[in-house]
Amino acid sequence: MSYFSGKAQFRWGRGGAFMACCVGAGLFAPWVSAQAVPGAPAESTPATAAAEAAPEAAPPVDAAAAAYAMKCMGCHTIGGGVLSGPDLKNAATYPRQTVLDGIKRMEKNVGTISEEDLTMLADFLLAPDAAARIDAHRQQVQMREAASMAPPNAELGRALFTGRTAFANGGAACAACHQAGGRGGNLAVSLEDAFTRLGAQPLQATTEAPGFPVMRAIYTPLPVTKQEAMHVVKYLEEISANPVPKSSFPMHLAGIGGTALVLVLLGKSTAKRVAGTRARMVADACRRSDQGANRRRKN
Ligand code: HEC
Ligand code: HEC
Repeated sequence: MSYFSGKAQFRWGRGGAFMACCVGAGLFAPWVSAQAVPGAPAESTPATAAAEAAPEAAPPVDAAAAAYAMKCMGCHTIGGGVLSGPDLKNAATYPRQTVLDGIKRMEKNVGTISEEDLTMLADFLLAPDAAARIDAHRQQVQMREAASMAPPNAELGRALFTGRTAFANGGAACAACHQAGGRGGNLAVSLEDAFTRLGAQPLQATTEAPGFPVMRAIYTPLPVTKQEAMHVVKYLEEISANPVPKSSFPMHLAGIGGTALVLVLLGKSTAKRVAGTRARMVADACRRSDQGANRRRKN
């Protein structure tokens, strides 16, 4: 399986309560993102600019496989099971005319099919290696895509991760929720060792098209581009060689747990002062509300 083709397949052991908590975090994220690196302005040049300058590679194309991939693959597989249309692997065993008739019927789905395309598609479905040709075609497309990209760059990836460089489509910086390279939030799991744990391909897939509700809510309308995801993955690969321990002290300090701990410690030494202050504040508030009530009564 090639680098980009896979879908991330993870199993998540965490409960709904955490998710519910993170939905709140999601609303919060754009703000956090803006704060991710105080004082560092977001660069306006998207990391994808280099990709546009890269030369287009154009190896010969399997025209039939390409046409099938473009017009038919959304509804049919060849040996991969039923989608909204039947699996077409058996079509190779049909009489030619049955296949031609079947494809002709598809004009209601894909518009007019020229005689030339009809012949080409019939030949394709009748060929015993149609499935392999589709795989080869997909791989070729992915390689062409990769060749048109700038090489993954960990520096650019770090800038995108932390928010120093804005994502082209305006999605939140990863560091709003995730830690990597010793900094970032802890609203979600640390990504210090994500490259080692998950591997390049699932990381790429998750970054481009995340499956987690919290991330999907942010990045479906504002997707991270393939090129940007490549940079981020490269960054995560680089830091995975030297991960910062997840239990490091500043991480805890940054967290809610840490905050609570600090409050408890402060509370022990300053309990009296805090209590005194609170008593004063309560008294003030009561006075203000009494005055308000008096005013209202007078009016
Ligand atoms: C919108 C979904 C959709 C698209 C797009 C589509 N098909 Fe179909 N296809 C179907 C469905 C549903 C059937 C089953 C009903 C029928 O045979 O008319 C079918 C049936 C067929 C059959 C007959 C299969 C059999 O076992 O009898 C062939 C052959 C076929 N499609 C080929 C194609 C080709 C080639 C394309 C692309 C040019 C294509 N289809 C595009 C949904 C689709
Ligand atoms: C609003 C918060 C938020 C932002 C922003 C965010 N994520 Fe996530 N991410 C999550 C949550 C929640 C999960 C689910 C896993 C968990 O429980 O922490 C997750 C899971 C992941 C996972 C799988 C984690 C693992 O180790 O199992 C990866 C990889 C990931 N995110 C990468 C990214 C990248 C790359 C970015 C930036 C493009 C990003 N995330 C931005 C909240 C966020």
